[in-house]
Amino acid sequence: MLHRSTVVAWILAICCFNAQAQEQAQAQVPREEVNALRQIVTTMGATNWSFNADTCEVVSVIPWPPPIASEGYVECNCNFNNKTVCHITKIIIKSFNLPGVLPPELVQLPYLEFVDFAYNLFTGTIPHEWATTQLNSISVLVNRLSGQIPRELGNMTNLTYMNLEANEFSGPIPPELGKLMNLKTLILSANQLIGNMPASFSRLTNLIDFRISYNSLSGPIPNLIQYWKQLNELEMHASGLEGPIPSIISLLTMLTDLRISDIKGPTQEFPMLRSSTALETLVLRNCNISGKIPAYIWRLRELQMLDVSFNKLEGEISRDIARKLKTVFVTGNMLSGNIPDTILKDGGNIDLSYNNFTFQGPDQPACQQNMDRNVNLFKSSLTLNMSNRQQMLPCTKDVACPRYQCSLHVNCGGDDLTVEESNRRVIYQGDVYGDSAGYLSSSHWGFTGTGDFMDEPIYQNSRAIRPTAKTNLPDLYSTARLNPLSLTYFHYCLEDGSYNVSLHFAEILFTNDNTYYSLGRRMFDIYIQEKLVRKDFNIVDEARGAQRPVTRHFNVTVTDNSLEIRFYWASRGTARIPNRGDYGSLVSAISVNPNFKICSNGSKKNVTAYIIVGVLSAFTIFMILGILWWKCYLGGRKQARTGFEGLELQTVAFSLKQIKAATNNFDAANKIGEGGFGPVYKGQLYDGTVIAVKQLSSRSRQGNREFLNEIGMISCLQHPNLVKLLNEDEKTHISTKVAGTIGYMAPEYALWGYLTDKVDVYSFGVVALEIVSGKSNNNYMPSHNFVCLLDWASHLQESKNVDELVDPRLGSRVNKEEVGRMVKIALLCTNVTPSIRPTMSEVVQMLEEQMAIPDVIPEGSMHNDDMRFKAMKDFHREMQNGSSSGSLTQNSITIHTDAGFSSSTTDLFEINRNTMSY
Ligand SMILES: *[C@@H]1O[C@H](CO)[C@@H](O)[C@H](O)[C@H]1NC(C)=O
Ligand SMILES: *[C@@H]1O[C@H](CO)[C@@H](O)[C@H](O)[C@H]1NC(C)=O
Ligand SMILES: *[C@@H]1O[C@H](CO)[C@@H](O)[C@H](O)[C@H]1NC(C)=O
Ligand SMILES: *[C@@H]1O[C@H](CO)[C@@H](O)[C@H](O)[C@H]1NC(C)=O
Ligand SMILES: *[C@@H]1O[C@H](CO)[C@@H](O)[C@H](O)[C@H]1NC(C)=O
Ligand SMILES: *[C@@H]1O[C@H](CO)[C@@H](O)[C@H](O)[C@H]1NC(C)=O
Ligand SMILES: *[C@@H]1O[C@H](CO)[C@@H](O)[C@H](O)[C@H]1NC(C)=O
Repeated sequence: MLHRSTVVAWILAICCFNAQAQEQAQAQVPREEVNALRQIVTTMGATNWSFNADTCEVVSVIPWPPPIASEGYVECNCNFNNKTVCHITKIIIKSFNLPGVLPPELVQLPYLEFVDFAYNLFTGTIPHEWATTQLNSISVLVNRLSGQIPRELGNMTNLTYMNLEANEFSGPIPPELGKLMNLKTLILSANQLIGNMPASFSRLTNLIDFRISYNSLSGPIPNLIQYWKQLNELEMHASGLEGPIPSIISLLTMLTDLRISDIKGPTQEFPMLRSSTALETLVLRNCNISGKIPAYIWRLRELQMLDVSFNKLEGEISRDIARKLKTVFVTGNMLSGNIPDTILKDGGNIDLSYNNFTFQGPDQPACQQNMDRNVNLFKSSLTLNMSNRQQMLPCTKDVACPRYQCSLHVNCGGDDLTVEESNRRVIYQGDVYGDSAGYLSSSHWGFTGTGDFMDEPIYQNSRAIRPTAKTNLPDLYSTARLNPLSLTYFHYCLEDGSYNVSLHFAEILFTNDNTYYSLGRRMFDIYIQEKLVRKDFNIVDEARGAQRPVTRHFNVTVTDNSLEIRFYWASRGTARIPNRGDYGSLVSAISVNPNFKICSNGSKKNVTAYIIVGVLSAFTIFMILGILWWKCYLGGRKQARTGFEGLELQTVAFSLKQIKAATNNFDAANKIGEGGFGPVYKGQLYDGTVIAVKQLSSRSRQGNREFLNEIGMISCLQHPNLVKLLNEDEKTHISTKVAGTIGYMAPEYALWGYLTDKVDVYSFGVVALEIVSGKSNNNYMPSHNFVCLLDWASHLQESKNVDELVDPRLGSRVNKEEVGRMVKIALLCTNVTPSIRPTMSEVVQMLEEQMAIPDVIPEGSMHNDDMRFKAMKDFHREMQNGSSSGSLTQNSITIHTDAGFSSSTTDLFEINRNTMSY
């Protein structure tokens, strides 16, 4: 990009001019120019201005200290009168938030060539006095200038650079500007200009860079652009000009950067660009282009970025793709055929979503995970006989919904957050753990983004943002997700029915204050279930100000169990406030609540709806009866939505009546503890079996599915010997949650239901590992070979690679020795044999290095497969092959679904926050 400003710190500027000053100690700026300069800055709204005429140095200026990233300096040319006189040639007063007007007094500086007054709050217009100067470069980027662009500017024939972007200029473009024949760069974007480009613009034959995005122009894109033969960059996003893109664009053979988007007009063929062989960036987005993408486009040698999203393109993607082309957005078309492996490059960002490609099964190359590339396949195949769910998650094997949900709460760009809503505590799940490639939570929702914030160095298709200035906003609105093109939030396991979708917004990048942050503008379109529900949604207008919350409600019908909320940025708004590349749609939170009363997911009443007790009983008859009864129970329901489908755990269901009888109607005397999700009661079945019953309250976030996962987790922690023991000794396996403790059950606890101090030691070990690794024991599966963190950690210890375990976010702050010690202690604490585990006081001594850590043969080394995890691995394998989802990976959406491992996520966070925050 040409002339994209760099940030030079104020201090740096002063140093640099001090050096220059010493060299030129003889020369001086004439008194008239010094006085003119004082007037100039006063007109601009600066005070306390002090300038050293001997050194051509700005000594001070109010605001002081200047805002971060501000630049304020003056440059002189001192080669006059045998180097005794300096004349001012450049004034840069940028990012100062100055409240005044542009200074007509510039005319008193006869040698002035260059002014950069960007990022202030200047009002009024460009003084017509400037027409008589010999300025060759003007930037008033990001100000509050308004009215018509003065036609006197047409007399400034020395101008080579003029940037009026992000002001409030209105009316037609004055034809006089066509006289600026030396212009190389003309930037008129983000104003309110109307009409078409004046015919006189055909004379601007030296233009290299022309940008006219986000205006209210009208009429077709004019043919006169054919005369701009030198043009490297043409940018017309949402200019108001209409298609078709004139065919004479093929004459612009010097183009390196062509960006046209969001134009109205009839359908057209792909524009002819065969001769534009220098193209590096080609954006033809939402231009009503139909037909095929010509094969030569894929072969353009210099092309790095191709965005032809949201057109009506058909046909296949060519196999022959140039080496440099690594960013390809074809989202929102009708492209079909196979996805060529040649496009799936390392380091590539390929968005194929919303198309008609051949369905990608999990084994196809497009689905193979690769850390270096992003391939978005969300709804990339419009396969009619497939559920929305399958289309959303093409790389996932047999996506079944273990349970349908009736609500969704997302804290966009943020962490999990509990919000009090009409006397209920609602947990808004954070999406911040997702990387920019996309994210899918274990609770069957996710988001996926297309695009890239242009003109800033990092590839990001969406980002989590926080307010740029202090706000009083509630937490829910203090984070948001920003996306430069198209962002979809989706849920694929919702119960069919009518829902109230509430979208929560607050403008947190722009402000209401006296900084240029207040000059930002943003509009975007909102689609729900692929239907446009709001066009040009403007948060600031809707909320009557920036940094104020606003919620909009929509009635939505869910069919096919899926919900899709999409935000589309149609290039309407400023693109560089506060910083360049800051634009796009913005959403703070989403809540979806059913308009129907009865939700079959189980949380009907305050008290328990379904109570499940895992019982592994040796009373065979009892088992058979139970299982038979269970099958009938399932079969008797039209839709099995209890969450047990595909789960082959030895579970038995009891009626509420039976459970009530066993626990003496949940007698408080029988309460043995209170877990994160509800109380646990001791009970006795009619056959004498002692059981523990966990009661889920409707306020609990834990559903049947999660509860089952918990049972799965318990099996993860079982020693295989236990099963034998159970069978032989006819003991009862009681599944429950460790009440009031950290929440990880030692194997023997899961079996016997008694607490020893060594149980706590076990829990401590697991949590210690989680802290070191920053991962949840149950959610973490680095590969199918390891079912949980503990499993993996044991393996790493054995292979002496404990370093790998350390949370990469800790960076260099890690003391390797301490980490090694911590892991060793943690693994000792989680030894399956309680007697080998140290006591807590010994743990403390070991941590303080007052006691040696005993060497215990790692358990995994005794068997190929660490027996502790065998049950879990079997379970996991079963899930993979069975109807439920396993650990699903899709390139742009990395998923760890909840097939048995996610139950304690919430518990872990609670621990982190309440007792061990790190
Ligand atoms: C004016 O600038 C000087 C630095 O030259 C600074 O020390 C002084 O505090 C400033 N005055 C005000 C009112 O800020
Ligand atoms: C310019 O200045 C130098 C010394 O500073 C002197 O030698 C020279 O004669 C001057 N030239 C003119 C044309 O005054
Ligand atoms: C612009 O220049 C022309 C001559 O080149 C002159 O006649 C006209 O008055 C000038 N306009 C302004 C506004 O200075
Ligand atoms: C402005 O352009 C004129 C000729 O068009 C030229 O004589 C003059 O030197 C230029 N001024 C500057 C400051 O470049
Ligand atoms: C695209 O073209 C079709 C057919 O010419 C037209 O009906 C439709 O309005 C166009 N779309 C836009 C956004 O201009
Ligand atoms: C999708 O692609 C198939 C061929 O792969 C084609 O038969 C079908 O017509 C396409 N659908 C649409 C809507 O273009
Ligand atoms: C949604 O539907 C309900 C009735 O089902 C109605 O009361 C409510 O006003 C509707 N809301 C909107 C935003 O249309």
